[in-house]
Amino acid sequence: MEHFRNPRNMGEMKDADAIGEIGNPVCGDISLIYIKVKEENGEEIINDISFQTFGCAAAIATSSMLTELAKGKGLDEAMNISRDDVANSLDGLPPIKLHCSNLAADALQDAIKKYREKKK
Ligand code: FES
Repeated sequence: MEHFRNPRNMGEMKDADAIGEIGNPVCGDISLIYIKVKEENGEEIINDISFQTFGCAAAIATSSMLTELAKGKGLDEAMNISRDDVANSLDGLPPIKLHCSNLAADALQDAIKKYREKKK
C-alpha cells in the first residue's frame, strides 16, 4: 500500500533510451517502463528508470518496486528481475493479484530488448 500511495520514479521520461510496453490481456491494464542507460566500468547500467502504469493498485505498487530494484543494476542483472522478485520485495501479494506483478517485470525486459536492438 505504501508503494501505491507514494509510488517511486513515476512519470514519463522524455529522453529515455528505450521504452518497454506490456499490456495485460486479462484485465486490459498497461505498463510503460522508461530506461536511461549509461556505461560504467565497461558495463551498461540502468542509470535512470521511470514508469507509467494504467492499472490497479497492485500493478502500480509492483511498478514502483521494480524501478527501485532495477535502478543502478547492469542490464543483464536487471533482465533477470523476475515477477517473483518484485512480489517478494513487497512482502507478497494476495494470490488474486499475483498476475499484476507480471506487468512491470515484463515491461522492463521489453525496454532492455528494445534498447539492445536499437544499439545493434
Ligand atoms: Fe490488471 Fe492488476 S488487475 S494489472
